Amino acid sequence: MHNDILKVMLSEEEIAEKVRQLGEAITADYEGKQPVIISVLKGSVVFVADLIRSIETDIEIDFMVVSSYAAGTVSSGQVQVIKDVGMSLKDRHVLIVEDILDSGITLSYLKELLMARDPASVRIATLLDKPSRRKADIEPDYVGFEIPDEFVVGYGLDYAEKYRNLPFIGVLKPEVYENAGDGAVKEC
Ligand code: IMP
Ligand code: MG
Repeated sequence: MHNDILKVMLSEEEIAEKVRQLGEAITADYEGKQPVIISVLKGSVVFVADLIRSIETDIEIDFMVVSSYAAGTVSSGQVQVIKDVGMSLKDRHVLIVEDILDSGITLSYLKELLMARDPASVRIATLLDKPSRRKADIEPDYVGFEIPDEFVVGYGLDYAEKYRNLPFIGVLKPEVYENAGDGAVKEC
């Protein structure tokens, strides 16, 4: 295992089984609706790649890049769209796919932004949910795992752009970020 990882929170096998279940639920709910799946980069890239392959109805996919963290592991409360979707969402069923719902500031901003485009519906699928950290009034429609308030990496999630390629979700050793300096804008 990687040296900076304290412990595995969710194994590759546990994640795969959960993603399969989420895909089944989404397939049933969106049958015949051809939803637009919007992956919020970069954190959701591994999750969305697995998720779409477990969905058995027609879908389209697009990507957005938003930045929300001013520094380190605490949300700045400010959200900026760096890259928008390239298609009209009018009358479309939109499913936003995120890696983790933490304070909820990113997703509540994003949901409001997309709702203003006159879609048929907007729902949220998140692999991880940290409900104890919520600041914004937002609830996900599909959740993989509720997790405690610990900073996790792997399966797309990063710390300072590292660890996204780990196949499991693990807890980072606190000393890895304790001494890190603040300041850089971080993409999701
Ligand atoms: P929110 O706006 O506070 O809900 O933050 C959402 C974004 O923060 C996620 O898309 C992640 O990029 C990042 N984030 C929040 N918690 C964690 C974590 O434990 N590990 C890695 N990234 C996280
Ligand atoms: Mg993210």
